[in-house]
Order: sequence, then structure tokens, then C-alpha cells
Amino acid sequence: MIPVQPERFLKDLHDLRQFGAAGVGKGVVRPAYSEADIAARQWLAGRMQAAGLQPQFDPVGNLFGIAGETSLLMGSHSDSQPEGGWLDGALGVVAGLEVARAAQEAGGPPVSVVSFQDEEGRWGVTTGSTVWRGKLSLDEADRLEDHGGLSFAEARARMADLAGDWVPADRFTGFVEAHIEQGPWLEKTGEKVGVVEAIVGIRDMRITFAGQQNHAGTTPMHLRRDAFQGLAEFNRRINARFAEIVTPATVWTIGHVALTPSASSIVPGKAVFSMQWRDGAAERLEKMEKIIRDTAAEVAAERDLGLDFGTMLGLDPVQMDDGLQAALAAAAEEVCPGKWRRMPSGALHDASNVSNLMPVAMLFVPSIGGISHDFAEDTAEDDLVAGLKVLAGAVARLQ
Ligand code: GLV
Ligand code: MN
Ligand code: MN
Repeated sequence: MIPVQPERFLKDLHDLRQFGAAGVGKGVVRPAYSEADIAARQWLAGRMQAAGLQPQFDPVGNLFGIAGETSLLMGSHSDSQPEGGWLDGALGVVAGLEVARAAQEAGGPPVSVVSFQDEEGRWGVTTGSTVWRGKLSLDEADRLEDHGGLSFAEARARMADLAGDWVPADRFTGFVEAHIEQGPWLEKTGEKVGVVEAIVGIRDMRITFAGQQNHAGTTPMHLRRDAFQGLAEFNRRINARFAEIVTPATVWTIGHVALTPSASSIVPGKAVFSMQWRDGAAERLEKMEKIIRDTAAEVAAERDLGLDFGTMLGLDPVQMDDGLQAALAAAAEEVCPGKWRRMPSGALHDASNVSNLMPVAMLFVPSIGGISHDFAEDTAEDDLVAGLKVLAGAVARLQ
């Protein structure tokens, strides 16, 4: 048994929320490399040290708290969306910290902890773990820009004085990430815990339509090269075309749009927007990509618009490790008998990247109202503690 302390775990979770606390309820604004994010990482490094772990930042700001030469790794991320909640990522880091600390106090097993950087994809998709995994080189990452034009290189330079060496992945025997579900299913069924079987794949790309900026009062409709109208038509057509090939679990989102110059009396000369799509089958992601590229080219040709596709980022769907899932399932049955389920993850996680390096598993706890990526994100503290106990039970079973 690993004697985790729920009160200490909850206090750390509330303390972490103070970095970037915003909005009503338990909201957080702590995007990667913001002052709040860097301060939170320094605070976490101190908590790791106090827990007997060796803190180490790597060149992109991933923070590891290392136990022993070889160990299990637990954790998630501590950066947030531009408007986020207190648990997305933070739960996995702080729960991992509590299990690692309690394990140290009990004389083992060694458990290391990580907070990956930019999981929320300010520079694309799970940037910190994607670079750590070796799928994206540091040079490629450095050239990425956020929506405001800040390069990854400039951003990570803010943490240069903390940066150490890369932490070799072969120090770790496996990775267990706890997370809030961020969807409605556990709450709807009254279950306390979800053991994740697989994580969907994702693709994410920036698309630009370029037209002619002009006067909104004098330019006749038939002479306009309006970049927004191109985007609107593109959106209408992909919705219709996707309907032919998707399943009820497929999702796609245009979540960020920047019109230039974005004024009421100016025909927009440029529309830059994010196009993101997710599905459990890699082949469907490819079919959707073809529809996106073909439809954008068709709309651009019809409306005499310039078209540019940015770098396509993404992760393939991945399966969780059977052995680690079995340990989580056995612990779940002990902590909340009959009140847990196996389920897929529609959200993306650092675990997707790490699964290319070692066996990986994930545990979910319910999200109140199924809400996340919003200040209102929350989970009942009883459920947070149930998740912590399942994690500790699973780690004890892996010894
Ligand atoms: C991660 O936050 C995601 O977008 O799924
Ligand atoms: Mn997350
Ligand atoms: Mn998130």
C-alpha cells in the first residue's frame, strides 16, 4: 500500500491554482511560458524537491522530478488554455506528486513526476512532449509561432536560466497520467473513475485565405474578393462533405479566426484560421485532410483568393498498455467497486506521445457538467480523492 494523504494532495492542487487564478469559480489563465506558468513550474520544482525528488527542467521547460535511476513516471501538464480550469493537467501532475511523495515516505517504489510544457498547444499540439519524444525537432519547434506571432524559440528563451539537459526516456519503465474526463459520460452514469483504453488521433493546421481588402460601402458584392466569405463557404462545404464519412465520435473545430484588418467597414483582405479534426481511426483523419485541402483549393479558385496551408501537426490514435490498464482496473474495483468503466479519450494527452517510448495508461475522473477548457471546469473533491487512491493502488500493484 502507498499511504497517500488526500488533504495534502488537495492543498497542493488549490495552491497550484493560485498561479494564474482568474475568472469566477476556479478558473485559471496559465498559458505555456506566461509569467504564471513559469512561476507555477518553479513552485512545482520546489514541491518536488521537498518530496525527495530531483527536479530538472529540460531545454523546452518540461519539468521532471526524478526518483532513483529507474522508476515509473507519472504526471501530465501544468500549462492551461487561454481560458481554462484548475484541473486540466494540474490534476495529473499533483496526483503524481502525491503518489511519488507517499512512496518515498513508505520506502518505495521509486516514482518520478513530470509536468510537460505546452500540452495545450499554444504552438500546435502537445509541443513539450512531442519534442521530448523526438517527433518534432527543436529546430522545427523553434520556428512555430503562436496566434500572436511569438515564436517558440522566443518563448522558451524565457526559461533559459532554468533549462538543463534532456531527461532520457529509458530511465522510466512506464507512464501513468491521471486527468479529468473533460466530457459528460462518467457523470451521466454515476461512475467515479474511467480506465482509458485508447486516445483518439488529431490533426491541426492553420489555413489562410487572402483576398483584396477594400471599402465596405463602395465595393459591389460581385467585385469583392472577401476572405471571410471564402472561409464561410469553406466551412459550409466541409460540414456537408464530412457528413458522408464521419462517425458520431468524429469531431472538427475552427476555433481561432483572425480577419485582417478586422473592422466593420472593411472587406476583410485576409482570413487566417485554425482547422482541427479528431478521430479514433487514422484512415478517417487522412480522408478528412483530403476533403479539407480539396475544398479549400476549390473555394479559393472560385473566389479568386490566395490560399496557404501551414504546417500540419498531429498525433495518431494510440492504444493504452494492457498491463498498466489491468493494474488501474484492479485498483478501481477495490476503491469503487462496480462504479468504474473502460472508455476512450476524445481529448488529447501527453500520454499519446509518451506511448511511443514506453507502456502508458490513463485514468479519468468525472467532470461536472462535462465542462472543460472553460473557467467553470470542476470535479467533486471526493472524486479527485477516489482517483488518487486508484492511482496509488495501481502503482502498488506494479511493484
Ligand atoms: C487537450 O487539451 C486537447 O485539446 O484535447
Ligand atoms: Mn490536459
Ligand atoms: Mn486541455
